[in-house]
Amino acid sequence: MLTVRSLSLLLALGALSLVDAAPQNRGNRGGRNRNGQGATRGGGQRQKQATAFQQAQQIPQGVSTATDGSTILDMTANVNGLPLRFKVSAPADQFTADSGVDGGAQTAGAAGDLGLNVLLHGDGGQSFFDFPNQAVQNGLAGVAVLAPDPNLFWGGGSGLDRTDGVAHAQAVADLVADVMPQVLAFNSSRVSFTGVSGGSLLLSGFLMPGHMSQFAGDGKESQVLLNCGGLEPQVDVADADAAALAATRVHFQSTQQELTLLQPAIPAAIQAYEKIAASQGLDATAIGALQTVDNSPNGGHCEFDEKDFVSGVQLMADSFSAVVQGGDGNLAGTNVNVLNPVVGNEDLTFSGAS
Ligand SMILES: *[C@@H]1O[C@H](CO)[C@@H](O)[C@H](O)[C@H]1NC(C)=O
Repeated sequence: MLTVRSLSLLLALGALSLVDAAPQNRGNRGGRNRNGQGATRGGGQRQKQATAFQQAQQIPQGVSTATDGSTILDMTANVNGLPLRFKVSAPADQFTADSGVDGGAQTAGAAGDLGLNVLLHGDGGQSFFDFPNQAVQNGLAGVAVLAPDPNLFWGGGSGLDRTDGVAHAQAVADLVADVMPQVLAFNSSRVSFTGVSGGSLLLSGFLMPGHMSQFAGDGKESQVLLNCGGLEPQVDVADADAAALAATRVHFQSTQQELTLLQPAIPAAIQAYEKIAASQGLDATAIGALQTVDNSPNGGHCEFDEKDFVSGVQLMADSFSAVVQGGDGNLAGTNVNVLNPVVGNEDLTFSGAS
């Protein structure tokens, strides 16, 4: 039996939704809407406008089919008191019998062959809804988690100040440890992460420094792809987590016209992670193989294909294995190689700002 702490699976999202929160501006949840929306509230006056989180709750959960024909389960779990909505994409027979997926045959807690690629979206949630990592890629099942925040900001707060980062990182770590085994058979020694913008801030600022020993080192294998965002550790790095980070493959990907706010933050994060690896005895060559960086695409924030936010993020999702799992380092379908060692390339230069 698994010990599941403070966990109740809320298959019915309705349990959480506010009945009078009418969905408004539903189409307006783009990843570039960095100001969030709908949080306006007059003094004591009830407003009809729902928060981004409440609007997301109006979008039905349940079972659907992924782009590669595998099955997507979209559900909400209560983790440490936070409502964590997540999507998992995997072949139907890898889900547990209790998951609600037709053909799900696994016992809760059973080990499986698939690893996970857990995606944390940017401010506003766009990449959660798009689920760009849904196709099983190189043995990793896609997972996307929705920030438990009114504005759908990972780590709450705003800008570089992610005031709920500690609680959100803990919730993601506990989701993987306690909730995922209830719904999917997977290899818990093979859990990787993808960040998009604000999701990359949560990963590099909080989850990696605070929880990496859960995912890397001691026979566990983890890769982290930090797209259009990076933050120095915002919490103390315990010895076990530093050791795990010295065994974690990390790639920082930005663009030529990154957000002004992130242009100094990403290089600072790169330097901080380099330092952690060095503190574990890795030399420059080893660090350069473990940690890589690129900002060559001539695009704005997250426009890695030099065109658009959504298609740019999709390109990085399609390139996960090529970039951080030992592939040739070329972005999918291009000859743009992004595997520059961090050592000597910390100080990214940008041609403009977005
Ligand atoms: C689980 O993943 C680890 C790390 O990649 C690997 O060593 C191990 O063989 C995998 N186990 C199974 C059952 O696939």
